[in-house]
Parts: sequence; structure tokens; C-alpha cells
Amino acid sequence: MNLEDKYPQIKNLIGQSENFGLFNAVKSFDNELDKTFGISYIEESAITDISEQAYKDIEKQALLTSYLDYHQVFQDIGQGQSIIDLGAGYCRGAFLANSFDYDINYIGIEYQQGRAKQAKQIFDKDILVEDILKFKVPYCENYFIYLPWNEVFFKFIYDLNSYAKETIFYIIESHGDFIESLDFYKDMFIREVDDLKTSIPRHDNTIYKYRFKPINPNKFLEKMYLPFLYSYKDTKIEVKSKVGTSNDYYIWSSSTLGMRLNYYNNRPCLFLEQSSRYLDFNSDEVVSIGNR
Ligand SMILES: C[S@@+](CC[C@H](N)C(=O)[O-])C[C@H]1O[C@@H](n2cnc3c(N)ncnc32)[C@H](O)[C@@H]1O
Repeated sequence: MNLEDKYPQIKNLIGQSENFGLFNAVKSFDNELDKTFGISYIEESAITDISEQAYKDIEKQALLTSYLDYHQVFQDIGQGQSIIDLGAGYCRGAFLANSFDYDINYIGIEYQQGRAKQAKQIFDKDILVEDILKFKVPYCENYFIYLPWNEVFFKFIYDLNSYAKETIFYIIESHGDFIESLDFYKDMFIREVDDLKTSIPRHDNTIYKYRFKPINPNKFLEKMYLPFLYSYKDTKIEVKSKVGTSNDYYIWSSSTLGMRLNYYNNRPCLFLEQSSRYLDFNSDEVVSIGNR
């Protein structure tokens, strides 16, 4: 059955996030479907994982995409295609995709077992309880992305690039900086024009649709991969930088200087702790990446 046939009242709510007066109607529709699907929410303060700090004080509903937004995305993707929800939360998408006529295949990846538990019990093979930083994300024709701007996204791009295929991203703005930060990498992505409007007001009212094109390994790629390589692997990086205008070089080594992931003007970069210096990838050259 089609969602809009079963719940005709939602026709006036879909994509209407600019109308704040509809906020409560969308929220109560989401609650109604949560009840129908039997989703119960765990106490988020019980999550102690350090990587969850970005979400610590956020109301749990704020973590979640409205069913009406998933509905629009599922209708937008090609029939018979698959979509991976990167960080699927309570897997609302799994319940929706499997209960109504979309003719799509939904796969959710979520590393918080508590959040994924109910969906995992029902849709076992479509829910991958994995940490994207440690697990190779499979190729898919579409990805749904509602994550903070951090190394998880870079790790995903790293995996995706290995398949050398184009794909579509549906992105929900997160913390207000995701799309702006992504713009720095726009050479790698082709932005589509037909973005969708969300049904519930968030950081902004758009579900951004991008086409991802595989990237050739080059200097630009290094800029992107290095920060996450360093932050999650036991990796040694050596960087060569010119001394003033002379032909001499320093070699900065992560094993002696200590480097960490940092952000500079919204760009990921490496920070040399002992010399309090950001590496400038426009002038500094990476000479080796390897094991310590
Ligand atoms: C903002 S929520 C979005 C949930 C869902 N996609 C939605 O839109 O309703 C982001 C989710 O990503 C998960 N997540 C964050 N980092 C992850 C990682 N490294 N591997 C897998 N899941 C991750 C979080 O646990 C959280 O549930």
C-alpha cells in the first residue's frame, strides 16, 4: 500500500517545512508511525561512547529524520534500487521501506546496538550493526547521509572511491556546517538541481541531492584522506615543507612531532602539536604514509 493512500492527511505536510505551523502535525504523524512499527526509544543519556558527544544533549527526536522525508527520498530513487542509510539510528527508514510500496531495498548501518536493536530483530540482513570507521561500506546506488561533519564521512568517501562508480547522495544538514564544509570538495561532487524540501524544520529546509563521481588519486585526494587516515589508523605520516625561499626542506614526522586531526576554515587538516602549526597542503608535500 502507498503511504499517502493510507494516510491522506500527510499530502498537505510533505515538504512543507517552511510552514512552522505544521511542525506539530508532522511530529505527531511520526509518533503515530513509531507506535505502529513498535519503535521505542532508549534513554540517550545512557550512551557513553565518546564519539557520541555531538549528540549528548540533543533531544532524541532531533536525531531522527521524519518519515515524510524518508518517504520523499524513497519515491525519488529509481525503482528496484537500493539505498544505504549511513548511521541509521533507530532505522525508521527500514520500517517504512518494508511496510509500504516503494520497490526499493533499504540497508541501514548503525554502530549503536541499542538504537538498531529492534530493526535488527525484524530485518536482520538489511541492518548492519557496524562502525563505519572499521567496516568497509558496500557500494550502493544511493546513500542517505545525516551525520556530523567528521572523519566518518571521509572514511565513507575512501571506501566509496574504491568502487570507481557514480552514486547519489541524499544529505540532511547536520549541525549547520555539513553542506558548507562539503562545498570545499565540490570538484569531487556534482550537485544536482532537484533538491527536495524537508517536511520538518531543521538546520535548513533542504534534502540535498548530490551526484558523487569517483576521484582520481592525486594531491587533492591526499588532502582529504590524510586527516582520517591519521585519526583512526596507527599511521605514520611524513611531510616535507620548504624553509622560507631557500631550497631546503624540513621533514615533519608524526612519530616525533605528534599530529592530530583538526579543522581549519572548515577544512580537515593536520595539526603539528609540538610546533603548534597547521600543515598547509598547498605548500607542504606528503612524502610517506605508512605504519609506525
Ligand atoms: C543524526 S543520526 C541519524 C539517524 C537516521 N539516519 C535518521 O536520519 O533518522 C546519526 C546516526 O549515525 C550513527 N553513527 C555515527 N557514527 C557512526 C559510525 N562511525 N558508524 C555507524 N554509525 C554511526 C549514530 O549512532 C546516529 O545514530
